[in-house]
Amino acid sequence: MKNRLEECKAILKKYGQEHLLNHYEKLEEKDKEKLLNQIENINFELIKNLYANTKKEQKQGEDKITPIEYLDKYKLYDDYKYYENIGKKAIQEGKLAAVTMAGGQGTRLGHNGPKGTYDIGLDSHKSLFELLCDSLKEAGKKYGVNIPWFIMTSKENNKATIEFFEKNKYFGYEKDKNIFFFIQGELPMIDTEGKILIGENGLIKEAADGHGGIYESLVKSGMTKKMKQMGIEWVFIGGVDNCLVKMVDPVLMGVAISKGVTVACKSVVKANPHEKVGVFCKRNGKPNVIEYSEITEEMAEACDEDGELLYGESHILCNLFNIDAIEKMGANPLPYHVAFKKATYIDKDGNLVVPDSPNAYKFEAFLFDAFGEVDEMAVLRVKREEEFAPVKNADSAGVDCPKTARDLYKKFYNLD
Ligand code: UTP
Repeated sequence: MKNRLEECKAILKKYGQEHLLNHYEKLEEKDKEKLLNQIENINFELIKNLYANTKKEQKQGEDKITPIEYLDKYKLYDDYKYYENIGKKAIQEGKLAAVTMAGGQGTRLGHNGPKGTYDIGLDSHKSLFELLCDSLKEAGKKYGVNIPWFIMTSKENNKATIEFFEKNKYFGYEKDKNIFFFIQGELPMIDTEGKILIGENGLIKEAADGHGGIYESLVKSGMTKKMKQMGIEWVFIGGVDNCLVKMVDPVLMGVAISKGVTVACKSVVKANPHEKVGVFCKRNGKPNVIEYSEITEEMAEACDEDGELLYGESHILCNLFNIDAIEKMGANPLPYHVAFKKATYIDKDGNLVVPDSPNAYKFEAFLFDAFGEVDEMAVLRVKREEEFAPVKNADSAGVDCPKTARDLYKKFYNLD
């Protein structure tokens, strides 16, 4: 331990982060061990660069943005059945798995616990996790297979998530047979001086590294290997907070398979040209998503000859990947985006600081930044009212909140 401690001190000195060991002697033995592990595993060079980037102006407008082609699920006419049959066959052969990303902090919703455990207020009082599981069970019955379910948690919420599943007997899904958990990566949070924060427990304050962490963690945790052993070829990846997410969709699979692409994504058309959502596009010729803040007014309003918005296909975190594409995307680091957040921490004198305004940088990778790894992908426009009922905010916000999601869910399932 002594040598390790000395080595850690040397690393910290090099990066001006010596304060991380200020309270080391006061920690219990097991926490001392944990802290040294954290220090040994942090990429300090990366953190240094990420901090430097927070001081740089973001360059915009240098990329060549062009529209991406898409198919409308309800304008496929005769092709609908064709795609559906191809996808159905692959699903029946057990080639599809579902992944739910449930590692987010859910700060906007403000629920005390993992977001997936949230009850949106249906008469059944089912949690988001249970609603998602219901849809998998229903699809499994329809196609005569079990759809394995992989759930990504964060270090912060993994224990609470698993306890919730245990308490609810995994909603009838079998653990280690049909349901698997894996934990996403983390990055330390830093203050405005670039110093890494210490959390309430005396250890380094780390936060989940964004939904873009999905590819690397699927590979590193051995999940892609497991999937391959199970004969899975296609993986639907979605968020935990869309209670209408359709994880098993033969048409989407059929489109991907017959077009020979390794990624196929669903979109819903923007509610209006200025809706604040990211939309599918091509960036320097490669598939991508462009944020609303990066789009000019003119681009946002531009239409094609049929009157459809050129940049109107919103990304809704409903994406299908071939396992090979996931492995490719997991092999290369994604860029990190910075968010300025409130973070409780222990200061250098050992006092607990609970800020009432943002005080720390958090770094997150975005799932769609990896889309450029493939040359082509398919985009399938689906109906908002059938597949998109997000729970992002508390009810007071009035949009993308439990109430709006509940109404959409009830309408779709004729529950009134
Ligand atoms: P969001 O970024 O929209 O929401 O994640 P959030 O993190 O849950 O909530 P806020 O932003 O703090 O209010 C979209 C989906 O991606 C998952 C979330 O769990 C959600 O299903 N996600 C997000 C992760 O799994 N890990 C992350 O690090 C971030």
